[in-house]
Amino acid sequence: MWKNINAAPEDSILGLTEAFRKETNPRKVNLGVGVYKDDDGNTPILHCVKAAEAILLQKERSKTYLPISGDPSYAAGVQNLLFGEESEVIASYRAATVHTPGGTGALRVGADLLKKFKPDAKVWVSAPTWANHKGIFGSAGFPLDEYPYYNPVTKKVDFEKMLACLEAIPERDIVLLHACCHNPSGVDLSAEQWQQVAQMSRQKGWTPFLDFAYQGLGQGIVEDRLAIAQFALLREDYFVASSFSKNFGLYNERTGALTLVSPSPEESKVAMSHLKSTVRVCYSNPPAHGGLVVATILNDPALHAQWLGELNGMRERIVGMRAALVDGLAKRGVRGDFSSIKEQRGMFSFSGISDETVAWLRDRKGIYVVGGGRINLAGLSSKNIEYVCDSIAEALK
Ligand code: LMR
Repeated sequence: MWKNINAAPEDSILGLTEAFRKETNPRKVNLGVGVYKDDDGNTPILHCVKAAEAILLQKERSKTYLPISGDPSYAAGVQNLLFGEESEVIASYRAATVHTPGGTGALRVGADLLKKFKPDAKVWVSAPTWANHKGIFGSAGFPLDEYPYYNPVTKKVDFEKMLACLEAIPERDIVLLHACCHNPSGVDLSAEQWQQVAQMSRQKGWTPFLDFAYQGLGQGIVEDRLAIAQFALLREDYFVASSFSKNFGLYNERTGALTLVSPSPEESKVAMSHLKSTVRVCYSNPPAHGGLVVATILNDPALHAQWLGELNGMRERIVGMRAALVDGLAKRGVRGDFSSIKEQRGMFSFSGISDETVAWLRDRKGIYVVGGGRINLAGLSSKNIEYVCDSIAEALK
């Protein structure tokens, strides 16, 4: 079967990790995939996760299937994180949440479900966006288009152009938005801008689909809810994909969720029925462990507090590395203004370095950066920052 078929290209992000594993340069640094590392270069298991796992080990009596939608305590925890415990959306039973295998699973379930009911829609993604967005929605059969987002000259959001484009998008279409910590640019909208976007979606009627993979890694759990809060105020219906890979460090447990908000509890029940039928034919029901870990942490006040502390620690370390990179490059007199890296949020930054420099850094220095110049700041540490700054300075001199 494969004799006359060309191999598929490597994934632009995960493929880089595979290449990095084979890299023989002893000083190698992986600034590619969005995975948190501590100052020693390890991706730790959070202490709260270890504690929750110990509880589960004692408590679990069966490995029988979860419901198609996942464990109800997990869905409740997800909704509290998204909307806040006091939210009207929760009190009025207007949110339907299914536990999905990671944020990617959430996006794909949402895409498959939307294809059934909006077969003629186009999906709009930000320019630029996470490479897999196009793959996921494209594979679900949607044509794709881009709305303006990041301006490489100002290193800010091109908000006027973005809004003008959103204004011209027809009701039939779907608009994918990064709720916080825009991937790949690290540049987010302000509260006021989110209000205008939510207002625009209400006026034009297109379907908002918020990808929320970094809650807590921007400014904090509550602060990062900005976008969701505006949609909760201004729209009765929208989609939210959550991921707990980064903020709980549960990368390989594939722990995510898809939440559909509807105008009424009756409609929410219908939405849930279709979520379940979409999941059933895709992967039947979710893997339990990651969701049970998250639910255990969120439902235990002490573990919850411990998690917030650990999450704050990860965020602060990344903020510190942003400053160290900017200062390190300035100290070396590197051409170009990198100061905006300090203002960006989340794990990523568009460094502004060209694909040619990306290739040079990889070949000559063993420093791996995603094409387009996206840097994962969480891959920097006190041990490699001087080497990375020296190498970039050498490349750009
Ligand atoms: C990333 O953008 O690096 C992460 O979201 C990991 C992935 O799956 O691509």
